[in-house]
Amino acid sequence: MELEGLLEKLKMETLASSVDTLLEQAAKRDVGYREFLIDALKTEWHGRNLKTTEGRMRLARFPWVKTIEAFDFSFQPSIDRKVIRELSGLSFVGRAENVIFLGPPGVGKTHLAIALGVKAVEAGNSALFLTVEELTTRLAKARASNRLETTLAQLARPKLLVLDELGYLPFSREEASSLFRLLTRRYEKGSVIITSNKSFADWGEIFSDSVLASAILDRLLHHSTTINIKGESFRLKEKRKAGMLASSEKGDEKTSAAGEWLFEEEKRPAMSGASAGKEVIQED
Ligand SMILES: Nc1ncnc2c1ncn2[C@@H]1O[C@H](COP(=O)(O)OP(=O)(O)O)[C@@H](O)[C@H]1O
Ligand SMILES: [Mg+2]
Repeated sequence: MELEGLLEKLKMETLASSVDTLLEQAAKRDVGYREFLIDALKTEWHGRNLKTTEGRMRLARFPWVKTIEAFDFSFQPSIDRKVIRELSGLSFVGRAENVIFLGPPGVGKTHLAIALGVKAVEAGNSALFLTVEELTTRLAKARASNRLETTLAQLARPKLLVLDELGYLPFSREEASSLFRLLTRRYEKGSVIITSNKSFADWGEIFSDSVLASAILDRLLHHSTTINIKGESFRLKEKRKAGMLASSEKGDEKTSAAGEWLFEEEKRPAMSGASAGKEVIQED
């Protein structure tokens, strides 16, 4: 039997497509049999990992791919890099702990949530990204068709569930109760990352029931890390840099003049110029 045919029968697809190149390289470098076999099997193994990672990435349904490396921490000094570095190590996923990103719009909550999700998938975990709106729609449909149990079981399965944008829409009592049931299912079994533009104090309002809100918070916060981001919107900064927004102009976000950025801006001359608006979003 031909080599290629044999590799295909063994379902070594990556190796089948690259074995000729590997053989040529081996001949040039005069490598031993054992070393060649290791190289060949490694090639196949990497190929398989890549395919399963790609599969898991598709299942995770991230709206974009974002990375920690692409995040400009100097723009957001309220974020403790050490905490993000620690989270990037993914031990929170292993321990089924939660992460909550709080802060005004544009400060990078979704970016960091996705970036941690991507890391988790690359490390071999299953993940699922849903906006809170998608989640409540899915749960409402499930309830209406008497499939709530099945849906809750499905949503409890991924090792990491990312729920984006809690707080933009209020929950009905039923919706809040379904979310509570989901969090109870996942409690100490799988991690949840939540992003929200509302502080914990305002969660009572979101869930229109303070008892349910505190039960939800209790489940979420028991084993968790909260990252409270206080700073300027990156989107506004980009616009300002492009000259689309005067530095004194207010966008759709609450801003106020403050001097806090001066030091940071001075340290990063590339970021100054048009972006030197020195505006900071104030909490509350
Ligand atoms: N510090 C940052 N460094 C690099 N890109 C950033 C940073 N903060 C935000 N962004 C980018 O700005 C946009 C808005 O960020 P996003 O995470 O959606 O904000 P939020 O979810 O807090 O509203 C995204 O494209 C994101 O990648
Ligand atoms: Mg967001």
